[in-house]
Amino acid sequence: RNVIKAALLGAGTVGSGVYALAEMLKDEMFQKTGASLEIKKVLVRNTKKDRPGIPKEIMTDNWQEILEDEEIQLVIELMGGVEPARTYIVQALEAGKQVVTANKDVLAEHGQEILSLAENSGCDIQFEAAVAGAIPIIRPLKQSLAGSMLTEIMGIVNGTTNYILTKMSEEGMDYKEALAKATELGYAEADPTADVEGYDAGRKIAIMSSLAFNSKVTFSDVYMEGITKITSDDIRYAKEFGYVIKLLGVTKLVDGKIEVKVHPMLIPEQHPLATVRDSFNAVFVHGEACDDAMFMGRGAGKMPTASAVMGDIIIVMRNIVHDNCGWNGGVAYKNYPVKPIEE
Ligand code: NDP
Ligand code: HSE
Repeated sequence: RNVIKAALLGAGTVGSGVYALAEMLKDEMFQKTGASLEIKKVLVRNTKKDRPGIPKEIMTDNWQEILEDEEIQLVIELMGGVEPARTYIVQALEAGKQVVTANKDVLAEHGQEILSLAENSGCDIQFEAAVAGAIPIIRPLKQSLAGSMLTEIMGIVNGTTNYILTKMSEEGMDYKEALAKATELGYAEADPTADVEGYDAGRKIAIMSSLAFNSKVTFSDVYMEGITKITSDDIRYAKEFGYVIKLLGVTKLVDGKIEVKVHPMLIPEQHPLATVRDSFNAVFVHGEACDDAMFMGRGAGKMPTASAVMGDIIIVMRNIVHDNCGWNGGVAYKNYPVKPIEE
């Protein structure tokens, strides 16, 4: 029986969810892919920590051991942060290993370099979970909507801030308490500054903008304003006038230039985005050919995110089994310039 051996980098919120889901789907994997999945190694910082469900003997803090193991064909990067994650992804691709990652920090800064490397090395890199958790949006942008002449993407792409704004608005919860709860639920980043200052949404909108417009749009191109200045009074006044406050990411192609920004916005209560609550995300896409399309679902959390990672693992395994690697899509070829946003 065909067995594909993988290494999991990270066993935190998402990594532990992926390990658990891989166990749950053990029997199904063969039907779905033509091979079984064996997670041979799990890389963490602290190998002493108890990780329920993950056998101690497969834990390691030694990346070289994974990199040099020729049996390991697939690296699933779920550590977060730019370094050492970027280096590990690059080294894995250079060593001919396939990669799945949920790391928007790396992709929003080095996405084009990594996608080009993957194409040149004939390997696959999949990153559906990097934007909007469980919502399928990366693959639609790269594939299903590739012929749609896209002009605009707009959405709620951060679960933590949407959860905080929902709790403040509907339950009168205090900002700090709502952030603590979002962290406890596994929605927030290791450093939640990235969520509340709009950086996480900025990374996601940069990734989507690059894919939609086949251009190099990086984190530093994005104008960002977070929710830290939003008060309970702002939320109450908005409500009195029939609005809700949402943190939106927006990117548009205007006269051959890309606008890309994140900021809080007043949304009329009847608007579909106003109904996107809790840790849910929603992404609206407009294209000259496809018109409007909307995607909605859980944008953060252990199992929703693990589901998107697992989908990527299944695709990569199918590619390995069916010898179909090498197409990654999304490499910049148009390179529209990015228009600076005036405050
Ligand atoms: P966590 O902080 O919960 O887990 C990170 C894991 O990576 C930990 O197990 C940690 O080890 C390990 N790790 C971190 N740095 C290193 C290193 N240098 N060497 C070895 N191991 C390391 O993060 P999450 O699971 O929440 O997030 C993982 C990725 O998924 C991030 O890129 C995040 O942005 C992305 N993501 C997260 C979502 C969510 O809802 N949480 C949703 C979508 C994407 P140790 O346990 O020993 O500290
Ligand atoms: N911290 C992120 C969020 C995780 O709250 O949306 C999902 O990318």
